[in-house]
Amino acid sequence: MTQLLFTTNPGLEDVVAAEFEERVAAAGLGETAVSLKPFDLDGQVMVDNPASMADLWPLAQQMRSVYHVIRPLHVFDLPDTEPLARIRQVVGELDIAEMETAVSFRATGNRTGEHEFTSVDVQRVAGAALVEKYGTAVDLTGYEVDVRLDVIQQRCWVGLQLTRVRLSKRQTRVYTPMAALKTVLAYAMLRFARLDDGSGGLLDPFCGSGTILIEAAQSFPDLPLYGSDAFPKPVQGTADNMAASGVGGQAQLIQADARDLRDHYEPGSMRAIVTNPPFGVRLGRRSDFRHLYSNFLQGAHRILEPGGRLVVLVGRRRAFNFILDKVGGFHLAHVRIVETGGIYPAIFVLERRQRET
Ligand SMILES: C[S@@+](CC[C@H](N)C(=O)[O-])C[C@H]1O[C@@H](n2cnc3c(N)ncnc32)[C@H](O)[C@@H]1O
Repeated sequence: MTQLLFTTNPGLEDVVAAEFEERVAAAGLGETAVSLKPFDLDGQVMVDNPASMADLWPLAQQMRSVYHVIRPLHVFDLPDTEPLARIRQVVGELDIAEMETAVSFRATGNRTGEHEFTSVDVQRVAGAALVEKYGTAVDLTGYEVDVRLDVIQQRCWVGLQLTRVRLSKRQTRVYTPMAALKTVLAYAMLRFARLDDGSGGLLDPFCGSGTILIEAAQSFPDLPLYGSDAFPKPVQGTADNMAASGVGGQAQLIQADARDLRDHYEPGSMRAIVTNPPFGVRLGRRSDFRHLYSNFLQGAHRILEPGGRLVVLVGRRRAFNFILDKVGGFHLAHVRIVETGGIYPAIFVLERRQRET
């Protein structure tokens, strides 16, 4: 039995489970036992599969809904008094086969909750215990083994982080604006769009640096892609990022305001629109937000195929709901809140109604 822990954005745990199960089934490996948010850990998914690590590791490395892959070693509760001494003791008692032969290691990890110590303190005491036990040198950059310790409230997780670089780093980016979407979120949104159905193209009308289009191109090399942005710099930046990522030429890119979609795209020509408009904080007046979103929704409705999907990441979900109600024409397939960079936007999955009611 092999156990792996995957990290993702809180709110996408079920997406990780579904992706892993699909990959395992396609590889003909056995049934997976899945635990979403084990021990209430947001953004984490634990899987147990009868296959060997040698069989599962290539699948784990292909995961698109995941940042890091960890092999869990041990979980324990921290006492109120002298928690660092307890961490040092428990880590010193663990048998970690990889540490026996490693030339170097590092201890890393995160801390969530109220504590009188920092994550650096945790790494320092755990590192000291491992040096004492195995005599292995610490090397923060050239390490061979990455021992990860996550303290969440009163619980400490110890594992080996198997991914050196986040799996989400799969795009070559030469244009890097601040507000770029994480590839993991882009992947989840594209899944919700059900791109296997329909005959038209996929549009991102607020394309920014092209994250969604590149993610789509990497998974659907034959899908016609369309991207637009109101400003010339993001349009050029998307073209440059697509070319640098090896998918240049798959998307038709134009400068266009997302309020005027019907002027640029044929009615019923898109099977899906997947997009991440500005969250609203920089849009200034409330009426600007309402104007942008209601015009965008009306245009999206017109250019989508009947049954086509609009998947949109929204910062102000109550205001968006209100506008959605007013505009009509869409069925709300589902909505979920995700965490990204300390904020909690919602992914709305809307389906263009087959017939107007
Ligand atoms: C949050 S960013 C999109 C980020 C993108 N998903 C990425 O990963 O880089 C929003 C984008 O919307 C564009 N934008 C703002 N108002 C617009 C409008 N009315 N029509 C089209 N694009 C607009 C901005 O220029 C910006 O590039």
